[in-house]
Amino acid sequence: MENNYFTKELKSKDLVLRKFESDDYEDMYNNWASDQEIADLAGFPKHTNDEETKSLIKFWIDEYDKENVFNWAITEKNTNQVIGSITVVNKDIKNKTCEIGYNIGRNFWNKGYATQSLSLVLDYLFATDLFDVVIAYCLKDNIPSKRVLEKNGFVCEGELRNRRIIKEQKYNKYEFSLLKDEHERIKKNKELLDKHDWLRITTEVEDYIEPEYYNKLLKHYIFDGKTDLDIFKNFLTNNNSFSQALELGCGSGRVSDIFVKNAPKKYSYDLLDLSNQMLNYTKNKFSNFKFGYIESDTIDYLLNNKKKYDFVFSLWSYSHSVHQQMHKYGVINGGLYTEAALRKFIISDLLPGGKMFIIHFDSMSDEQKILMKQWKRFYPTFSDISKQSPSLFITDNAFSKMQKEEIIDYKITHYVGEEICYESLEEAMETFLNFHMESYANERIELSDVYNDLESYMKKFMKGDKVCIKPGCFIIEITKR
Ligand SMILES: C[S@@+](CC[C@H](N)C(=O)[O-])C[C@H]1O[C@@H](n2cnc3c(N)ncnc32)[C@H](O)[C@@H]1O
Repeated sequence: MENNYFTKELKSKDLVLRKFESDDYEDMYNNWASDQEIADLAGFPKHTNDEETKSLIKFWIDEYDKENVFNWAITEKNTNQVIGSITVVNKDIKNKTCEIGYNIGRNFWNKGYATQSLSLVLDYLFATDLFDVVIAYCLKDNIPSKRVLEKNGFVCEGELRNRRIIKEQKYNKYEFSLLKDEHERIKKNKELLDKHDWLRITTEVEDYIEPEYYNKLLKHYIFDGKTDLDIFKNFLTNNNSFSQALELGCGSGRVSDIFVKNAPKKYSYDLLDLSNQMLNYTKNKFSNFKFGYIESDTIDYLLNNKKKYDFVFSLWSYSHSVHQQMHKYGVINGGLYTEAALRKFIISDLLPGGKMFIIHFDSMSDEQKILMKQWKRFYPTFSDISKQSPSLFITDNAFSKMQKEEIIDYKITHYVGEEICYESLEEAMETFLNFHMESYANERIELSDVYNDLESYMKKFMKGDKVCIKPGCFIIEITKR
């Protein structure tokens, strides 16, 4: 590449980024420069007439003669309109840093244009080798702008207090930065996304997986010749003298179905889940029944609830909550919080003779071992993956203590499951990344590392085209004395 760089024309699917031209002023004025909200968000004084815009563009055009000036007009291919700008400022050539800022007219928001523009400019800037770090700022409350930066791999460096005054009110800003090697990793991730469409699925922890997609990806889990649902059904039919039931983490109502079909004639039933979409899906399924629905975290509910129950069950969900508490408060405090919640619930809310049934995943199983290694990249909760997960450890401890204190009878049984076979490596990868990891890695910079690590592990379990891996679980059964 040459030594001096300029505002080179760049193209994406929907956009052309080019130098400003003198007759762009009308589009610029109408689309964003005269918009008070955009001016406030970006921190420039709103233009009050298009002459102001015209003279600013003239100034910019004159600047293009200088070396290393990067100031693009973003134009939409479809309409040929100038819809925004993206500019590099505060260039520090010695330290190889610069700052980037962008504006998009409100009629063109939510089309991914800021993300596309930023990605084009970053490719260009890092290729010049002028910069190793690109910095960007956004107001703390400007969530869309924050998402644009995160999607391009920017990392938040910190919160700057009272850095912008808008109508006499002070606002905090975030400072973000992106390193050159991080940008390279993002590019590798994009290649993966182009190859595997399902990697584009993303979700937030509290939403969990879309219910239909959950049902589609879910496999049969078989332990000692019985499915997890059969084992639960057995427990239910052997302990069916209860009248107040609670299910923790009902999800798409898979276990709830078995429960409803096999429960005694008269009973009350509360279904809890953190995910609003899961809860609504299950509510719909049982619209003919009068059940209680609780949108809550499991451990928070166990601690704060005031209702009494005598049959409580949770399949493949309870540990989610314990680990989330640990991510929030740290392993020690999250663990203490969990133990306190379990003790309070069992002592105060579980009726004498009441039963609890939990299926907890086995983090040392072939299925989970590799997943724990990936989670460890994101959460310090899993810093020691040579041991069972912190959730199992804390839960086993809490129940063992209560057994010693003669509050409960407690039994925990370990099962190694039958192999689960995926038709292809692709199916196995989709299940592991989107089901087990809840698409957590898909939007993150670590994606290609996670993908490659999982794929090479999977290859060890290939039988012809299929991938066959054994799961494991712990079944916890409790009776209140
Ligand atoms: C693997 S699914 C299990 C669903 C169902 N029990 C089954 O066996 O099909 C895990 C469920 O736990 C829910 N979940 C995740 N975190 C939770 C939390 N902190 N509190 C309650 N539920 C949670 C998810 O929304 C999801 O529905």
